[in-house]
Amino acid sequence: MRQRSRALSSLVVGLFALAPWLDACRERREPVAAGAASPGVSSAPAAEGDTLRQAAARTQRKIGVALATWFFKEAAYPELAAREFDSLTPENEMKWYQVEPEPGTFDFAPGDKLVAFAQAHSMRVRGHTLVWHNQLAAWVKRLEGDALKSAMLAHVTATAAHYKGQIAQWDVVNEAVDDDGELRKNSPFTSLGKGYIAEAFRAAHAADPGALLFYNDYMIEDLEWPKSQGAYRLVKELKESGVPIHGMGFQMHADPRRWPSYEVLKRTLEHFAALGLYIELTELDVPVGEIPGTLEQKLAAQKDLTRDMVGACVSVERCTGITLWGLTDRHSWLAAPEWAKLRGNGPHLALAFDDAYRPKPMRAGVIEGLSLSRK
Ligand code: XIL
Repeated sequence: MRQRSRALSSLVVGLFALAPWLDACRERREPVAAGAASPGVSSAPAAEGDTLRQAAARTQRKIGVALATWFFKEAAYPELAAREFDSLTPENEMKWYQVEPEPGTFDFAPGDKLVAFAQAHSMRVRGHTLVWHNQLAAWVKRLEGDALKSAMLAHVTATAAHYKGQIAQWDVVNEAVDDDGELRKNSPFTSLGKGYIAEAFRAAHAADPGALLFYNDYMIEDLEWPKSQGAYRLVKELKESGVPIHGMGFQMHADPRRWPSYEVLKRTLEHFAALGLYIELTELDVPVGEIPGTLEQKLAAQKDLTRDMVGACVSVERCTGITLWGLTDRHSWLAAPEWAKLRGNGPHLALAFDDAYRPKPMRAGVIEGLSLSRK
């Protein structure tokens, strides 16, 4: 049965080969009409057997996954990704170290591969990321002053121009704010003064005027935190001074020991959305290592936390999508020992599918969150 429906869907894809492309174009300025249904109306409950993308479509949201080209050799990886998700973020393939490893020498091939995959499967692409202090090419770290600024603007322009028309949303600047709410001390870009952020957005907009441009950061879920306040001040000022910024990305690599509640997250998302910004949960994962209890209890808690985070997004009209940061527990960055430590003791089993690509309770949590009625 599943095979037959797969055969049917490839036929449909074949017949309408242009559809993904048209969809991708249509979604660029208005990623999803999140506000189209009247507030106060409950979203349709998910039907049993829904894929994640079907459940997301019912509530006019996008459900995304971060993918890495090096896992495509496992046949189940692209197959499950295309079946369940309708948005794709390259996990590393569009980062500076990959795209421009030497000054003026560009390698877009891995990113192009993911874009082609997304287009073939009617998935939106979130570009990630143009300006970030991590995974930067080594040569950039040796620059300062005008040379650094010119390199940054050239990188933003060339990358956004290469992907012009193909990226629905760019994370233009990633993680520019420190825990104290000020500009990040360990970023080379901070030496340029905060004007570098506005300049990066302007350059991205000039190179691809159709893409929605996002500022993206982590640990900003609670407005009580100085970092959340600092990020708010930053994007408010950008917006008020006419900089082309359209959205705020909440990474949602939340620490299990400091999870925001549904109410807290909803309030924070509403506060940022009131600036006239779209909101996306861009890198959601839920590490269970530090959640007390048996494995079964941890997975049940993971499901509930996921439902609440996804539900908080769905409760905010301008929150247009949720992306999980990886496909299965085995492919999660938190499966790697160097990153696992960030979230305390593992194993973190942070995603919606297990090592063998089987759905976990967390997947049901995503569906339940997508099905929560709107405010
Ligand atoms: C991570 C990737 O998942 C890893 O494969 C890589 O080794 C390090 O970066 N915040 C971000 C993402 O914005 O780009 C990071 O991705 C995770 C934290």
